[in-house]
Amino acid sequence: TVTPVILSGGAGSRLWPLSRASYPKQFLPLASEQTMIQETALRVSSDRFAAPLVICNEEHRFIVAEQLRAASVSPAEIILEPVGRNTAPAVCIAALALLESGEDRLMLVMPSDHVIARSDRFLEAVEQAAVAAAAGSLVTFGITPVAPETGYGYIKAGGPLGTGDNIRVVERFVEKPDLATAQTYLADGRYLWNSGIFLFSAAAYVAELEKSNPAIVEACRQARSSAARDLTFCRLEKEAFAASPSDSVDYAVMEKTDQAAVVAVDMGWNDVGAWSALWDIAEKDESGNVVHGDVVLHNARNSYVRSEEQLVAVAGLDDVVVIATDDAVLVADRKHVQDVKLIVERLKAEK
Ligand code: GDD
Ligand code: MG
Repeated sequence: TVTPVILSGGAGSRLWPLSRASYPKQFLPLASEQTMIQETALRVSSDRFAAPLVICNEEHRFIVAEQLRAASVSPAEIILEPVGRNTAPAVCIAALALLESGEDRLMLVMPSDHVIARSDRFLEAVEQAAVAAAAGSLVTFGITPVAPETGYGYIKAGGPLGTGDNIRVVERFVEKPDLATAQTYLADGRYLWNSGIFLFSAAAYVAELEKSNPAIVEACRQARSSAARDLTFCRLEKEAFAASPSDSVDYAVMEKTDQAAVVAVDMGWNDVGAWSALWDIAEKDESGNVVHGDVVLHNARNSYVRSEEQLVAVAGLDDVVVIATDDAVLVADRKHVQDVKLIVERLKAEK
């Protein structure tokens, strides 16, 4: 069986003002009735999977525990990070936890805040990838790119790996290229986006990380072996974990390993990076609008308007995003919603 590893340490700052540091996007019901972390856990809750490991910031422990309980998901462990050190250490901690059983295990690493419309195709791809992962490959799930996005990893797919029809060798993995480079990748046609979902064996991951960044592995071993545990949580030892270098799986392992493989999968994937993504994936009314909550529109088109509490009215505007919460209102051009991140940074700096 495969153990799901759910990463829940992100801040989702581009979905401000709904997503907050204290209550980030993975804990919100943004794309369905369930919150994004609930959707993520439920997607892999069949008997083909072991109970999931969840890794999150200490601050979010009660939200995580409560949301999983509400979805009837029983995690094997909820591991708490005293500070964020990005995904390479988080995944390393999960790998070390699995290796404590004395056996190597396959781990399916998943961000807690992505939409996958076609779960069936995702699960099929995981099954195909499992053969390669069991043989030592670090398998990525590749998405056909549709724009020269600079916030993604790009995977150059090579020839078949030989363990299955759809698994190919990764010739190159480039994390977050600049725009000009992303444009050449898109034109090239052989590149895929990295979805940020990975399948590999715990031992294979630790071995590759050990080669590129042994300090991370060392810090994680320390933090895990002196962790404090109770029935629900495993609290990593603060000083040891804080001593880990901060790096992502993509930079620390995927760009450097020669064991990477990719399975291309058309699964309706979206990482909901900004408000415009929620407009993109939602069903629109006849004027192209998507509304949530108490909203009145007059002569508005192709807009996303969401109100948590008070009545919000929009007249004579096209292509806008309006998000109203009880203490903040965002009004933005739908084409410029990436800038919300800059606003959040400014607010933090001024605080
Ligand atoms: N536990 C934990 N601790 N989780 C974390 C941490 C951390 O310190 N940092 C990030 N995460 C979680 C986030 O919540 C998210 O679910 C996931 O790990 C990925 O982190 P992001 O910060 O969102 O990564 P990214 O968007 O810059 O890039 C990654 O995802 C892209 C696709 O969405 C990379 O894998 C790219 O290559 C990929 O294209
Ligand atoms: Mg992301």
